[in-house]
This record gives sequence, C-alpha cells and structure tokens, in this order.
Amino acid sequence: MSGIVWSEGKAIPLQGKGPVVQLVRTLACHARGRGFESRPDRSEMNLTPEAAAKRISELIAEISEHDYRYYVLAQPTLSDSEYDRLVQELRSLEERFPELRRADSPTQRVGGTVTKEFPVVAHRRPMLSLDNAYTIEELRDFEKRLTRLLPDASLSYIAQLKIDGVAVSLHYKDGIFIQGLTRGDGLQGDDITPNLRTVRDIPLRLRGKAPSYLEVRGEVYMLRSEFNRINKEREELGETPFMNPRNATAGSLKLQDSSQVAQRRLKFLAYFADGEGLPDYDHEIMALLAQWGFHVVETGGPFSMNEVEGFIERWAKSKATLPYDIDGVVIKVNNRALQARFGATAKAPRWAIAFKYQPEQAITELQKITYQVGRTGYITPVAELKPVKLAGTIVKRASLYNYDEIERLNLHLPDVVVVEKSGEIIPKVIRTLPERRPSTAQPADPPQTCPECGTPLIRPEGEVGRYCPNYKHCPPQVIGRLEHFVSRKAMNIQSLGEKILRKLYEKGLVKRFSDLYALKPEILTNIEGFAEKMPHKIVQNIQASKSVPYPRVLYALGIRHVGETVAQKLAEAFPTIGSLYEASEEAIAKVYTIGSVIARSVYTYLHDKENWEEIQRLRSIGLQFSALSAARPSAGLPLSGKRLLVSGTFEGVSRDSLIAYIQAHGGIYASSISKNLDYLVVGENAGPSKLEKARRLGIKVLSLPELEGLVGKPVRE
Ligand code: IVH
Repeated sequence: MSGIVWSEGKAIPLQGKGPVVQLVRTLACHARGRGFESRPDRSEMNLTPEAAAKRISELIAEISEHDYRYYVLAQPTLSDSEYDRLVQELRSLEERFPELRRADSPTQRVGGTVTKEFPVVAHRRPMLSLDNAYTIEELRDFEKRLTRLLPDASLSYIAQLKIDGVAVSLHYKDGIFIQGLTRGDGLQGDDITPNLRTVRDIPLRLRGKAPSYLEVRGEVYMLRSEFNRINKEREELGETPFMNPRNATAGSLKLQDSSQVAQRRLKFLAYFADGEGLPDYDHEIMALLAQWGFHVVETGGPFSMNEVEGFIERWAKSKATLPYDIDGVVIKVNNRALQARFGATAKAPRWAIAFKYQPEQAITELQKITYQVGRTGYITPVAELKPVKLAGTIVKRASLYNYDEIERLNLHLPDVVVVEKSGEIIPKVIRTLPERRPSTAQPADPPQTCPECGTPLIRPEGEVGRYCPNYKHCPPQVIGRLEHFVSRKAMNIQSLGEKILRKLYEKGLVKRFSDLYALKPEILTNIEGFAEKMPHKIVQNIQASKSVPYPRVLYALGIRHVGETVAQKLAEAFPTIGSLYEASEEAIAKVYTIGSVIARSVYTYLHDKENWEEIQRLRSIGLQFSALSAARPSAGLPLSGKRLLVSGTFEGVSRDSLIAYIQAHGGIYASSISKNLDYLVVGENAGPSKLEKARRLGIKVLSLPELEGLVGKPVRE
C-alpha cells in the first residue's frame, strides 16, 4: 500500500467546503487516515472481493450523490464528518482492493497522477473559435447574413454568457467520464484527463440515463476569490503572480501533478453537447446536461434577436456581481438541424457569434511608479495614478505585476495611460497614449537597487521578477517574515500585528523569530499604549505557540517556495529537522511533487549558517522540530532513521514511487553509497559498482520483496 500516508495529507483538503471548514476537515481526515493505517476496522478484515466490490459500488453512488448535491445544487444533505467517513471507507477499501478501483470513484478527485507529457489526441470534430461582434449593429448584420444564407429558415436563438476560461472537451462512454482534452490547435488537443477529474463539477459519472457516447464541451474557469487566494499564496511563496483568472486556469490545467491541480479548485460550466439521440434544440440539450449533473452556463432562450439584446443589456449591468469573469455573450442558432445547414468556415461556425463586452476603461495620468518589497524580496511595481472614476470606483493605483511589464508597456514618467477593469478587482494599465505624453517625459527606468535598503537587485534565471537579495537585513523582508511567522496558519500568535512587529523591529527588540520568545509584557507595554491585559495575553500567545506541530513550524520559517502543502510533505518525508538537514538537495527533490526548485531553496536555507543557528535556538526554546514525538510514539515507522538507496529498475514500480514509499515509511533517501547507508535496494540491472561498494562497506543489500517484508506492506504504483 504505497503512498497512502502520502496521498492523505494532500488528498483530503479538497473535499473542503470553504476555507474554515476545509481546515477542520483536513485535520480530521488526516487524523482518521492515520488511524486507519495502523488499526484496520475489524469488521472489514474478512471482506471477500465480491462483497468489497458491492460496497465500493454503494459508496461511489452515495458519495457522488452528495458531491452533486453539494457542488452542483449547493444543497448539502450530509455533515462534513459523515461525508468524510464515507470517503475514508471507500479509500480504505480501494487501498485493500486496488483492482477494484474505478474510474468514476470520487477518490480520483484528489489527483495523484503525475504526467510527464500529455498525450496529443485528435478531436472528433474541430474545436472552432467564434466570430466577434462589438455592437448591436454587428449583431443585426449577423442575423442578416443568416437570413441571406437560408431565407426560408425561421430563426430563433439562445444566448449564453461567454466565460473567460479555458475550453475543454469531455468524453463520456456509457455515462462514465473517460477522457478530457484541451482545445489545442482546434484539431487536436492535450489529454489532461487526470487534471480534469479533479474539477469538482465535472461529473465522473452522468446521473440518470445517459447516451452510450457523449461529448460535452465547456469552459474550465476559476472564481475570482480563488484567483486572489492563489495569487496571495504565490506572492507569499515568492512566486510570480498570475495575470488574471484565465491565465491561472490555463497554467493550472497544464500542471503535471494532478494533486496540485486539485488544490486550485477549478470549476466547469458546460455549453455544448454532441452524442446520439440528443434533442433537436440547444436549449433542450442544456436542460439535459443539467439533469446529467453538469453545471450549465447561464443560458437564455429560445429568443428573437430583440430578446437577445435584452439579455445582453441585462448582463452588462449585472456581470460585476458574478463571482467569475465573463467577456461577453455567445449567441447561437437554437436549432441543431439549422446549425448543420449553416455549417462553418475554417475558423468558426456560421450559426454562432460572440458579442464582446468592452472592458471598462479610463484614461488618466501615470504620476509615478512605486516599488513594494515583499517578504521574499519580490519587487512589485505599482502605478500611482491621478484618481479617475472607473466601473463605479475611484482608481488611484494599478498593478504592474513585474519589471518586464514596465518595459513592455514602454512606460514613461509622467505618462498618459489607459487603465482597465475587466472583472478583476485590481485595475491594470493596458497601454500608454504616447501622443498625449508630455515631451519632457523620460522612460521609466526601474531601479536597479532595492528601494528600501539599496542592495542591487537580482533577477533569477527564467523569472520575470526582480528580487532584493538582502534577505537578512532588508526591513520589509524581515518584518514580512515576522508577520508570516506569527500568522494564523503558521505559529498562530494572535494580537501581534504588523504595526507592533514593525515597532519591535525598529526599536531593535525583535530581529529574529527567537527574539519573540524573550519578550516580556513590560516591553510591550512600553512600546504601545496597550489596554491593561493585552501585553500579558500576547506573551502568553507567544509561549503557547511552542506546541504548534512541526509541519507548521517548517512553514512558519518562510522558506521560499515552501507553502503549507510542501511543508507537510517535507515533514512526512523527513520527520525531523535533523533528517531534513542531512538530506541532500537531490534527496529532497525526490520527495513526491517537490522537485528541484523547492529542493534547492530548502537546502540553501537550512545550510545557511545563521538560519541553522536560529533553528537551533528555536529548538532549544521548545518549538517543535520533529513529527515523531506526537504523532508516532516510540515505535515510529518501519524505516525510521534508516538510510536507503535504490539501484536498478523494478517491474511495474517507478523509481519515484519507490522513493516515495521509502520516505513515507520513515526512511531517508540517501544520495550516494557511504558507510552511513543502511540498505541498498536492488532491482534489475543494478549498478555493479554500487553493489560492489555496498558489499565492501558491509551494507545490507535488499531485493524489493525483502524491502516490502521489512515495511510490512507492498509497494504499489
Ligand atoms: S460556443 C461552436 N459558448 O469562447 C461553438 N463558447 O471564442 C464554439 N466560450 O473557445 C464555442 N463561453 O472557449 C461557446 N457559452 C459559450 C462559451 C464559449 C466561453 C469560449 C470557448 C471558445 C471561445 C470562442
């Protein structure tokens, strides 16, 4: 049973429903998952495969029903804990009977498949794009064209919101989701099925009676709230933020690890279906799609062109209230037989058109550009504008994302710019108006040194952003790190906000995390006019944080690229800070889904003398730097503290999953043979020199079955 502990940490969060419930659910499931690991339910011990298959079938039906009620109807009928219990039962049955794992099992939603390269697959019929109309006039022209082409046809339309996301094509065989493709070049697309399985409102099995074959097309998209959450997280991790929800969606769908896709909480809206025995009208097909369990894009009709205009006007007014971005309305001839008669050009169907809303824009002066320095040293340029009214609010600032944007826009100072608000909450600078720019204006050369501390900036290879490398002494970076350290998901030290941290820092009282633990109530009273009990409360909160578990402490350190999930993974693979310190960069990179960029960041951080000394200080103060003590008492895991190395190949087991298996059971994956190695695990074509060296050093050589015997569980892909 490989990778169970593994998938668990990441698996569960996704059943969450809203951030708070989600956290609770994560913790609850996590605990329960481990419980199952060590104490399988007795009543299940003697289950026959037949009985298991029957129960799996029941569970899939029941969980899918609840998923549908929750994600599609938004009417949950089960409590979180009841739901979790069902999922856990299913997962544990699937682990015991992997051959009974089904494609439509809701456990697939959490991902776990890693795809090196997506296979390219031809579309059954091309995925065309749409012609655009920008005015009502152009819509009328569209109708005239149609009438000219087929004068006898009586035309009626449906109007649908045009979702600003990424088009995909989903294939269902006998009601089961079997394949999902991107649009690609329109003729062939990438097979991203594992990634699409994680999208909660894509049904894995259609409800009710389904045709033997069905293709559904629609848009994968991201809620604005989710987009903001992800960007905030990316900024915290020192990663470049996404430009807009559509980019974020496209980027997410291309991720190779589907469990990471699952964390992006993508959504889906269906707008088209093709299959046998479908009704003659699109509006009926939309109703059917909803019955089969899809979220269907907002659709109006059957309409006359006049009514279409009404729909367009209504949504122009209320589109800002939608939780996601749209960029227009798609108008389609409702009748399928007529659609076929109108046909398509090479680029677009003749029977449909996209009416594009003009994003709201305003022209204003760019007065200056300021540069904000984040916790990781990432520099965000911000356009400071002459206040201007845009989409109902006064805009004074606009994001410029990164340095390259300044160059791309050829910004001058001062300048005249067009700002736009196309759904996203933060307005952006679209372009300059060079003809209106004052003749004395100079190109806006971004500074080469940090605006806060003067250190020359660096640009990591392959990144568009600039960083201030003065990690240790650049004030906003230090204060930002302290803020991160005390934040809720990290050490959760309440009432210690940015303002106090800044004062403590400026007064030289707190520079490092460990300084916090030496704070006395009197010091706090002196620097801030606190209410009577507050300083005591804060000091108490600080002291209480000593019991925060290891993965969160690891996250609190603020290592670049180490978010909550990565910290969790690292703590699972290296259950003590010592074992993480000892691990080579290569060994860290081998942890399932971690990769070389994160590994380098972790390794460099830990092997910095000052950082390591600070960790020692924190450890001696009493912070948790081991996952072993609390969660896994005395016995530990079967490979705890053991160093292993793998050589050769193993039938049906990839090297990565073998390493993940070793780490999941407490082993440390070594980077080379040395006398510190405990076991060399050998497969076919194992390196003769490695074997020889292992013998010479007296290292025990294990076959895969021997390793499995030691762990007490088989490895499975
Ligand atoms: S219909 C043959 N309907 O817009 C019909 N497309 O510019 C082709 N889109 O690639 C598409 N919402 O990704 C249709 N309600 C909707 C849509 C929609 C968004 C996207 C779709 C397509 C692009 C065409």
